[in-house]
Amino acid sequence: LSSESIRELGSLPGPKGLPVLGNALQIRPAVFHRQLEDWVAEYGPAYRIAIGSRQYLCTADPEHIDSVLRRRPDVFRRAERLEQIAQDIGFVGVFSASGGTWRRQRQMVMAGLDPRHIRNFLPALVDVTERLQRRWLAAAQAGRDLDLLDELMRYTVDVTTSLAFGKNLNTIEEGDSALIQRHLNVIFPTIMRRLLAPVDFDHYLGNWRIAGHLRELRQAVDGFIATARRELEQDPALRERPRNLLHALLVARDRPDSGLTDEDVSGNVFTMLLAGEDTTAYTIAWMLWFLQRHPDTLRQAQAEVDSALAGARLATSMEQLAGMDYLQACAYEAMRLKPVAPLIINEAVEDTVVGDIRIPRNAQVMCIMRPTVLDPARVEQPTAFDPARWLDPQAQAAHFKRASMPFGSGPRTCPGRFLALVEIKLLASMLLANFDLEEVGSQNGAEPAEKLSFVMAPEAMRMRLRPKARASAARQSAAAEAVQS
Ligand code: HEM
Repeated sequence: LSSESIRELGSLPGPKGLPVLGNALQIRPAVFHRQLEDWVAEYGPAYRIAIGSRQYLCTADPEHIDSVLRRRPDVFRRAERLEQIAQDIGFVGVFSASGGTWRRQRQMVMAGLDPRHIRNFLPALVDVTERLQRRWLAAAQAGRDLDLLDELMRYTVDVTTSLAFGKNLNTIEEGDSALIQRHLNVIFPTIMRRLLAPVDFDHYLGNWRIAGHLRELRQAVDGFIATARRELEQDPALRERPRNLLHALLVARDRPDSGLTDEDVSGNVFTMLLAGEDTTAYTIAWMLWFLQRHPDTLRQAQAEVDSALAGARLATSMEQLAGMDYLQACAYEAMRLKPVAPLIINEAVEDTVVGDIRIPRNAQVMCIMRPTVLDPARVEQPTAFDPARWLDPQAQAAHFKRASMPFGSGPRTCPGRFLALVEIKLLASMLLANFDLEEVGSQNGAEPAEKLSFVMAPEAMRMRLRPKARASAARQSAAAEAVQS
């Protein structure tokens, strides 16, 4: 690009703000993603806003987004404010870290979440799923409604803690342990509010409202670490073959040249709790909500599950899960329409250019992820819930898949995506194999509202299940035929 064709960030269109405060007073944190999407419709795919002295390029252009996400960590990083918040609350992990610290931590976290480790942990994940099945059966037999988000959060808390820390919290059966979630429910919105405030007063004044929650959460995390340390001492062979992510983190930290500290370990334990639970639980909730509204899609998913499980109540092998392509497509379709990460915020480490727009050092680039995958020029019938589009081998489908990035893109793409898909398929197939989905929805029956609190959550939903009569052999083979045809 010649220097004449470069546009300055300040020259872009955008909502009019006030002197000093910029657009700060217009922002409503709980629906900020919707506001940014509405502004795309009004000002085009690339526009600017300001929050206090911070300048933002807001972009829904997939080429801009790709260029920013791929040039991390050297040219772009996560917002410095996020790292500051993480430091204040005492948890710097791979999500908030930058530069060399991020590189060291990323390597260590990736190693623990790779497909080989997840395969080794499948029996633990199956145990958690089985407990949930028993709990849901009792509710279904009693004709009791379930609080869907609460149920799913218990599931993802149990999965993450048993996989990552080797600790079976069992929040599914022992309600009190769901305390972890209660703490996170207070801490997440605080992080979001601080991230978007023109001035981060909490950084200077502290925040007594979350202090108690942080203290208890830190105690829980310290407990996980102490247990893992004891296990490594009692069984030194674990250093060669770590049994869980926390063992692996501690072994990596203890190497003389690792450059890692105890804080790196606890920061990443907290990060796993933060990044792994709401995301997966909300994705499943939306997916079930769509399935219940689309009986043909639900039937097709059910047929695939019946065929893959061949009469079993639960999947117990990776091979069974690998045979659930349609169910996976349902998850991707739910994430296209209801992404849990509708915004990815980045900060320029140096002066740079995005597309034809000059981005000064420290300016922010707000990647707005959903408009592209709802664009009628790219996606046929964009607002329809149609999982089959993900299985279409045609070029158009491939083009569309590239534009959709529910797990982000580039070097900082979500390291938990493989685990998340395993969790989603394991739980959804358990549900479809054992229950009929009678009702999933918000209290008033309307489409659940979207609420942004760090990730995008649906409002409360309830679910009613009916126990299924066990499938007959005849139904099994009919299902298998339906899937093959
Ligand atoms: C459906 C479920 C999930 C979704 C949609 C999701 C989505 C995302 C997205 C969009 C990002 C940002 C990527 C980027 O900046 O390019 C991310 C980062 C991350 N996710 Fe996930 N995630 C999910 C589940 C999980 C799980 C289960 C874990 C771990 C237990 C996890 C751990 C992380 C971590 C540690 C990062 C930060 C990576 C880095 O900055 O290097 N996520 N995720």
